[in-house]
Amino acid sequence: MTLPTLALNDGHSLPQLGFGLWQVPAAQTAEVTATALRLGYPLVDGAAIYGNEIGQGEGIRASGIAREKIFVTTKVWNSEQGYDRTLKAVRDSLDRLGLPWVDLILIHWPTPARDLYLETWRALIKARDEGLCRSIGVSNFHQPHLQRLIGETGVVPAVNQVEVNPRLQQPGLRAFHAAQGIVTQSWTPLGQGKSFAAAPIAAAAARCGKSPAQVILRWHLQIGAAVIPRSTRAAGLAENLALFDFALTEAEMAAIAALDEGQRCGPDPDTFEIV
Ligand SMILES: NC(=O)c1ccc[n+]([C@@H]2O[C@H](COP(=O)([O-])OP(=O)(O)OC[C@H]3O[C@@H](n4cnc5c(N)ncnc54)[C@H](OP(=O)(O)O)[C@@H]3O)[C@@H](O)[C@H]2O)c1
Repeated sequence: MTLPTLALNDGHSLPQLGFGLWQVPAAQTAEVTATALRLGYPLVDGAAIYGNEIGQGEGIRASGIAREKIFVTTKVWNSEQGYDRTLKAVRDSLDRLGLPWVDLILIHWPTPARDLYLETWRALIKARDEGLCRSIGVSNFHQPHLQRLIGETGVVPAVNQVEVNPRLQQPGLRAFHAAQGIVTQSWTPLGQGKSFAAAPIAAAAARCGKSPAQVILRWHLQIGAAVIPRSTRAAGLAENLALFDFALTEAEMAAIAALDEGQRCGPDPDTFEIV
């Protein structure tokens, strides 16, 4: 099965569906990663702060899938922001992963009060130029943070990975991304299950013979976002991959759009400063 990809602004492409490793216990990560890759997921989303990059790398090798067929993401944690620290953090992540390069590295959060994200971005540009990664992007950046990066460096992030789910649809930020050629990648896409019983989700699930989770993930694909659900269960991983034999109607998409309440599951990037 070939899954859809989205064109990145640097000439590379991003699988539209992948799986995430946040809160996957380190001891379970290799198994979850190998299982997901064997099921057919083409992308694994990790981060230094998840504490499981060693397992992420082990799972990639254990899967038996050719490295060039797997899109690998990691992220630079807040404490490692700054030019020199970031370059070291990238090399440390590659060491833990056991890989000479990854497909995508993101700045995990802007932590704007510390005012280090611009020099962190310059370090990622350098890392890309040195071949340590193919693409560079950001996570949890708001429009002013993005505008500053672009204005100061002229390098537009390929991806902004942000919280998106039916209760937090981020239409303004997604429109800005589209205008700038930045791919939106949705984290916590299932929204902690808070919309599973909402009428438009339940009705579409009943019509399509799909689960609420599958309807929500299909909604992400149809709004043009990339999406990285997490499950530590093989059945959950398989369920979240079975999104390509049905489609939501325009009316169903409109009904789900009306569920947006601007309610976050995670922290607000404007004030999240934890290092
Ligand atoms: N950049 C950032 O700041 C950031 C922040 C948060 C997350 N992320 C990334 O985004 C990924 C996904 O976000 P997330 O892990 O927060 O949440 P998620 O994928 O929205 O939801 C995961 C939760 O939903 C359950 N689940 C998964 N599939 C299900 C299904 N088909 N039916 C019912 N329940 C299901 C999982 O439990 P089971 O394991 O039991 O299936 C787990 O409790 C992360 O793993 C991480 O890679 C990035």
